[in-house]
Amino acid sequence: MFPESSTGISYEDCKGTADWLLSQTSVRPLVGIVCGSGLGGLADMLKDQVAFNYKDIPNFPQSTVAGHAGRLVFGMLKGRPCVCMQGRFHLYEGYAIQKITLPMRIFSLLGVETVILTNAAGGLNQDFKVGDIMIMKDHINMPGFAGNNPLSGPNDDRFGVRFPCMSDAYDRELQQLAVDVGQELGYGDFLREGVYCVLGGPSFETIAECRMLHKLGADAVGMSTVHEVIVARHCGMRVFALSLITNKAVMDYDSEEKANHKEVLETGQHRSIQLQKLVSTMVNRMEYNNTNA
Ligand code: HPA
Repeated sequence: MFPESSTGISYEDCKGTADWLLSQTSVRPLVGIVCGSGLGGLADMLKDQVAFNYKDIPNFPQSTVAGHAGRLVFGMLKGRPCVCMQGRFHLYEGYAIQKITLPMRIFSLLGVETVILTNAAGGLNQDFKVGDIMIMKDHINMPGFAGNNPLSGPNDDRFGVRFPCMSDAYDRELQQLAVDVGQELGYGDFLREGVYCVLGGPSFETIAECRMLHKLGADAVGMSTVHEVIVARHCGMRVFALSLITNKAVMDYDSEEKANHKEVLETGQHRSIQLQKLVSTMVNRMEYNNTNA
């Protein structure tokens, strides 16, 4: 008998949700995609869609942020079976960290092998421009430093090990594939790579905080993705993640710039078509273990 997880949602509950979803659609997804702020258009690319509002899915949390639709969409992307979260959950919405990452466990139980996550982020690296797309090669988990980790609480070995490795969190082959596909599509000028730092939000960073994060080795800062990556890796899925740099983090007391959510959404719309093309081409080209792909 396993103790219940800190979400109050056990392995059996997650399995129940996955089985319920599988009973409603014939799609057997091998790729799970999480759409960031203003990047939900990726889900609209899926063919032969079967979509569920989060509120109709047993045990699923619900999204509360403008610009995040709150639908789980199954369908085919460039011939590959996918499931896509159109709208994700954030710490700043007030959910327990275990709850916002629950969809990763459900992805795993649906049969997903590879998770692709996108987010909007502020650029700390001074070479980055608004509109750049950053391939995440690593992360800094700030809430984790303070003990807020999605794997806190009893570990259920059916999901994964107690102490999972994170030095290989971001799949190297998928990063290389992104570089190759990006070059082919002519995106070389705005495709970057770097380290993403997650904070709790919802307030944007102060100037002193941005300076500190930059000194610590972060290239971009945001309020999502890392928690999901940790849980996805815990259950053994491959991970690839992209940040769209929607604003430059303010590092200078003379600057007139101010981070705001409207700018984040507008930049998302501007680059979203290219981001969708990059992700969908990668999905088509990826190698799959499951031969049904
Ligand atoms: N900071 C934190 N999160 C963000 C930012 C930012 O500047 N831009 C988009 N998401």
